[in-house]
Amino acid sequence: MQPDENARHQYDGAATAAERTVPDLDQFTHWAFICEASDCRWRGSPAVRNALAEAVQRQGGRRVAVVRTGCLSLCGAGPAVVTYPAGEVHLHVEPADAPEMAAQLAGGSGLKRRLVRAPQWYRDAIVSRLGYMIELLKRRAAARGRAPQPSA
Ligand code: FES
Repeated sequence: MQPDENARHQYDGAATAAERTVPDLDQFTHWAFICEASDCRWRGSPAVRNALAEAVQRQGGRRVAVVRTGCLSLCGAGPAVVTYPAGEVHLHVEPADAPEMAAQLAGGSGLKRRLVRAPQWYRDAIVSRLGYMIELLKRRAAARGRAPQPSA
């Protein structure tokens, strides 16, 4: 199996062929977390993730990471995308939004037409949770980088 063309921007720590090339997660300054739990998945979030990762790569957004995640507690209004570190909440995101969203993310802001005004308590909680998730991904990537790689 060939690693996904967009694997560099779609790191989620899952066991895939792509993970043999451990990305330097410190290169990413802007993160887009896309919910792929049941409701958002049913509403098309995998297609959003693929389109966004493609757009980021096409636009050369080396500092933007696109990461799938579990439920963001925004069910019923997905696909949901939350950015880090800004904590901007996007709902009803569609694959067609990807090029514009990728450009906005590279500049550190969200896509205005999909943004919703989330309560500050939610933003504080989700930014804390996503920051913790990034730390875990970095620790896991570092551990993999130290581990002996399987021979071909
Ligand atoms: S299923 Fe996506 S926010 Fe809950």
